[in-house]
Amino acid sequence: MEHTKIDPKLLEELEQALGYIKKVFDINHLINATQTTSQIIKYYEKSEKAYHFIHSTKGSIHFPLLLNNQSKPEELAQAYFIEEYIKNINTQKVLELGVGKGFNIKYLASNYPHIKFWGIDITPINIQKAMHATEHLENVFLCRGDFERLPFKQKHFDLIYSIETFCHATNLKSALKGVHYVLKPKGYFIVFDGYRKTNINKLPQNLKTAAILVEKSMAVNQGATINTWVKTAQQVGFKVIVKEDLTYATMQTWEKFQKLASFYFKFPTFAKITTKIFDTLLLQNAIAATLAPLTIKAGVHGYYKVVLQK
Ligand SMILES: C[S@@+](CC[C@H](N)C(=O)[O-])C[C@H]1O[C@@H](n2cnc3c(N)ncnc32)[C@H](O)[C@@H]1O
Repeated sequence: MEHTKIDPKLLEELEQALGYIKKVFDINHLINATQTTSQIIKYYEKSEKAYHFIHSTKGSIHFPLLLNNQSKPEELAQAYFIEEYIKNINTQKVLELGVGKGFNIKYLASNYPHIKFWGIDITPINIQKAMHATEHLENVFLCRGDFERLPFKQKHFDLIYSIETFCHATNLKSALKGVHYVLKPKGYFIVFDGYRKTNINKLPQNLKTAAILVEKSMAVNQGATINTWVKTAQQVGFKVIVKEDLTYATMQTWEKFQKLASFYFKFPTFAKITTKIFDTLLLQNAIAATLAPLTIKAGVHGYYKVVLQK
């Protein structure tokens, strides 16, 4: 098979990065691991401290976006966009899939007290924190559960959104069908997420390995390409209203994480010792932090805003 042409300098950098990573982690084990739902829960439980101290002390578990017209990354960027839809349609009932620690729902539900907001998340520690963060809001209803088995009636919601959660779907088509089922006709499904931009089987082996490691180290079993994802959404009956590449808006944060991870891998003996003390599921975030900026630059991964309508 003919390989996609990639900048040789980038491939060299990648080779070096994989070398550091291999000194600390058993990458074959990670590549062959299946990210089941219980693995995903464990990943979020073990990564909670890292998400709190490195990602956001305010409770968001997603990438802040540095959009073209701004000077610094904004944690509420995704919520501001969703808010525009909430304001402009006659919204009564909203659902967040993978509500995390409640960062987005708290903002939206506080601003729209006449609208009811539901949230679902599978990780106990996250949903407990979300409940605590929103306990003063009478219009928020949270439950622990799986977004692939939504416990709601048909045609219940005007708008459903998901921020960096749907990538964990173990069966994309069935998960999309589930969302379609509980949405009202003409209802919206807004998704911010990471995707593959290309078929990884055509990539040079090191880049393919890196792509798989980025996904698995963040508990994503198998990234879908953006085109397959959108096509699957159309097959279950959605219309595509927006599909916007926002990869550039995540880069500054990725590069910040990459710098932190480079300190970690600089001292491999020390890093190896940490694997005996801390859980690998927490430490393996350093793999994604090191490799994702490279897979992004190589055009393999990207971050998109997608709006679908039933
Ligand atoms: C990256 S975090 C995003 C959290 C939140 N959307 C935010 O923006 O802060 C992904 C969340 O999805 C949840 N999640 C993953 N798979 C899930 C599933 N099958 N059902 C429900 N929640 C899930 C995780 O527990 C985690 O809280």
